[in-house]
Amino acid sequence: MSSRIPGFYKLHPDERLRALEAFGVVTDDLSPWRSGLSLEAADLMVENVVSTFSLPCGVAVNFLIDGRERVVPMVVEEPSVVAAVSNVARLVRKDGGFRTSSDPSHMIGQVQLMAVRDPADTVARLQEALPRLREEARGVHPRLEERGGGLVSFEVRHVAYDEPGHVREDMVVLQFVLDVADAMGANMVNTLAERLAPTVAEVTGEQVGLRILSNLADRRLSRARVTVSPASLQTEDLDGMEVAERIAAAWRFAWADPYRAATHNKGVMNGIDAVAVATGNDWRAIESGAHAFAARDGHYRPLTRFELVDGKLEGSIEVPLQIGTVGGPIRVHPTVKANLGLLGVTGARELSGIVAAVGLAQNLGALKALATDGIQAGHMRMHARTVAATAGAEPHEVAAVTRELCRKHDFSVEHAAEVLRRLRAAG
Ligand code: MEV
Repeated sequence: MSSRIPGFYKLHPDERLRALEAFGVVTDDLSPWRSGLSLEAADLMVENVVSTFSLPCGVAVNFLIDGRERVVPMVVEEPSVVAAVSNVARLVRKDGGFRTSSDPSHMIGQVQLMAVRDPADTVARLQEALPRLREEARGVHPRLEERGGGLVSFEVRHVAYDEPGHVREDMVVLQFVLDVADAMGANMVNTLAERLAPTVAEVTGEQVGLRILSNLADRRLSRARVTVSPASLQTEDLDGMEVAERIAAAWRFAWADPYRAATHNKGVMNGIDAVAVATGNDWRAIESGAHAFAARDGHYRPLTRFELVDGKLEGSIEVPLQIGTVGGPIRVHPTVKANLGLLGVTGARELSGIVAAVGLAQNLGALKALATDGIQAGHMRMHARTVAATAGAEPHEVAAVTRELCRKHDFSVEHAAEVLRRLRAAG
């Protein structure tokens, strides 16, 4: 199978599905992509359902990740995102594509003790009770160990609310790390936190507060790396080495300035969230974890890194990814199941590596555009297609109308309608 499908973007959506079949990317039934989520299935997912709500599901092509061809489903409403990652994936193939690694699926849970009287004593009591708590934890998810997961460790932390001008409050937190195998893990962690809480209260004599997972999943990091030869970055006006230097300079701007880092990371999340949504994952959890991790040294930083090493541009990303391939909407949403089949992943760690690679690709695409022509040229080209369709262009007329709108730099619907009239009159 190959993820290089020349001219893929020029096809009609149904022809694209058939091309994926012809290139061996999909072997299963194509109907989940055609029909989507039924109202009956939606009604099982959330409350008070009145409808379903569709978004575009595109596929990014050209990816070579850890030596394997990958076609990556992406659900996103923003133009240029799928095109940008596909372009970057094509650029970096000759340098070997992306290399990834992901930690085991270690999630953190917290049981909070509120306003404790003697924090040192409470910490000591909990430390002493750890063998009992470990034993109790074993009984909560008995089948998880068979799937390669289970309790990993406990930590006891003293934290203090000491905001100036307010009364100080000492808290103690029993924190545990649970290997959730191929799940995202929120339900398993929250159940365990609630089940341990009565013992935590009993052994300390203190009042339990919250019992919940932490979305700062910093024991569940994924990494991706890419090396780019400057020649691949050359544009019509700029030498490749100049572009590579500009990309590294753009990254340094994000490292130095949180105002820039927020936008830089928004671009990273354009890629990460789109794959998360397509695979039925909780993108809010991923977002909160990513941004908290980005601020781990007390200053909000970029999630990626770009620098010139031995004459080549080296890019990397390290990001917490709470990603599952089982549970949640994965069971009920037919397109999610189909998208996971299309990716051909065997488990959560493999999917996390792909997601990290897409985040890195998205960021590289954005930095390359920003450091050279700016992003508006590409955006306006995509916008022009929507304007052409709004003005009434049929699918076979869209390309010609779009070209004319870009040539004249006039993207109004009136202009598109005028271009369409002339095109049709000319036969
Ligand atoms: C737009 O959705 C994302 C960018 O703003 C990211 C960036 O500035 O790096 C283009």
